[in-house]
Amino acid sequence: MLKILFLFSLVLVVSSMPGVAGAEPIQHHGYVVNAQGNSRECLACHDGSMAKAVSSCLNGRCPVGGSHPVDTPYPPAGHEGEYVATVSGSIRLLNGQVTCISCHNLQNPQPDHPSVDLATTNLCLNCHRK
Ligand code: HEC
Ligand code: HEC
Ligand code: HEC
Repeated sequence: MLKILFLFSLVLVVSSMPGVAGAEPIQHHGYVVNAQGNSRECLACHDGSMAKAVSSCLNGRCPVGGSHPVDTPYPPAGHEGEYVATVSGSIRLLNGQVTCISCHNLQNPQPDHPSVDLATTNLCLNCHRK
């Protein structure tokens, strides 16, 4: 019961934060974070200060050896034909843009919290036609 009350008050606190659209508080490696956070919210920790710097993803391992842009329009103007027209519901865009939670779902307990099941689904082909 206390736990439920605690979680409820957490929801109230986070959802009353100014500028936090669609807040979804979740336990994340010892912190309560917004599972619908924008890249700025993620990078507040993932700049190496409190958690692994995301550069290990964006500049290295993540999109198989390349870097990947975030906060960029989906699909990019003039390149619509190269992208899947309507992305599946598990690929979330924020304000029509690719962001961290397009590829990550903090609710998914699998390693690296991918937004799709990497064992059965090619993450990249959810957006890229090839
Ligand atoms: C309050 C700080 C904080 C915020 C905000 C935060 N994280 Fe994290 N995250 C962590 C910590 C701590 C870990 C544990 C691994 C580490 O220390 O780097 C972690 C782990 C991860 C991992 C898994 C890394 C692995 O080794 O499996 C991913 C992916 C991740 N976070 C993505 C995100 C995304 C996407 C967001 C924004 C929606 C986010 N995080 C917001 C602190 C944070
Ligand atoms: C285009 C998809 C994509 C985007 C966008 C993306 N990631 Fe990732 N990220 C991945 C994948 C895939 C992995 C798993 C890497 C691997 O195991 O090769 C990963 C790994 C990570 C890890 C673990 C890195 C490690 O060294 O263990 C963290 C932390 C992370 N991402 C955070 C973020 C944050 C924060 C953002 C937004 C600034 C972001 N990611 C944007 C696909 C993405
Ligand atoms: C949520 C949709 C989405 C997913 C998932 C996604 N991408 Fe992308 N990707 C984009 C968009 C949109 C661009 C174009 C960004 C731009 O030009 O501003 C892009 C650009 C790229 C680029 C070109 C980068 C550059 O700076 O020119 C590469 C390489 C790439 N993606 C690889 C991958 C790989 C590999 C994966 C899977 C791990 C992946 N992408 C997953 C949407 C996605």
